[in-house]
Amino acid sequence: DKSSGYRDIQISYTADHVLEITLHRPEARNALNTNLLAELSRAFTDAQADPDIRCVILTGGDKVFAAGADIKELAAHDATTIRDDVRPTYWAVIREFTKPMIAAVNGYCLGGGNELAMHADVIIAGENALFGQPEINLGIIPGAGGTQRLLHAVGKSKAMEMVLGGTMIKAAEAREVGLVSTITPPETCLETARELASRIAAKSPLATMAAKKAVLQAYERPMQEALLFERELFAALFDTEDMKEGVHAFMEKRQPTFKGL
Ligand code: CAA
Repeated sequence: DKSSGYRDIQISYTADHVLEITLHRPEARNALNTNLLAELSRAFTDAQADPDIRCVILTGGDKVFAAGADIKELAAHDATTIRDDVRPTYWAVIREFTKPMIAAVNGYCLGGGNELAMHADVIIAGENALFGQPEINLGIIPGAGGTQRLLHAVGKSKAMEMVLGGTMIKAAEAREVGLVSTITPPETCLETARELASRIAAKSPLATMAAKKAVLQAYERPMQEALLFERELFAALFDTEDMKEGVHAFMEKRQPTFKGL
């Protein structure tokens, strides 16, 4: 059973081709301890390999997304042990996940929690969500991509305000500055994410993966190179059965059924 054997996360199939991962350490505000990250990495490895899964929703439930790295674990480290820490290998699995990922965020989304949410392709937030990178209050800085992804999401001035000042922003501001795409009442945050996930999961998975890859190239390459990369991904899709199905369905005025072939 693919959903068993987890302690700090829960996984379930909520709709056709959609996997939902729920962070589940209620006693620690879902702080991302090493075991939770290891379980996330296992869940994403399985989801990557499973052709039935076309979209993942990541949530912390309706109270809190995640309060960051587990500070009690961090307390035991020095510079040498943290350099050798296994956690970056777990983050890498999440970073390299090629299928669409949506974060549904309620409550605190802080530090490593915000960094995790920013690994998602789309963030949907409840009106009660609070986003921040409070690492500076601990005498450290974000270490799981926060300095880079936040800059890309919200621009330099707001990113610096958050990273230097530890300033938290509420959901409404997070949407205004572009960190999240949509805000909803807290009760419907997950439902809104599920609707989007179902819509995405009904598309050709080859096309959604190509789209994600192409968009993310903007972070990696200069524009001219990224445009060539986009064009190649675009061209490759013309040899897929899904492309033929999509185009024929349009011409036949029916809904397409995509197989990922
Ligand atoms: N790590 C470990 N335990 C945590 C935690 C964390 N990040 N956040 C909360 N907890 C624990 C608390 O220690 C507390 O445990 P006890 O009941 O055993 O005392 C329990 O969760 C409840 O927490 P609070 O009583 O503080 O709950 P609150 O509702 O009053 O406040 C909060 C919630 C604002 C999130 C507050 O807990 C908080 O500020 N947490 C720390 C946030 C933070 O600094 N995150 C950055 C971590 S560093 C990082 O993430 C590095 C990186 O980039 C990878």
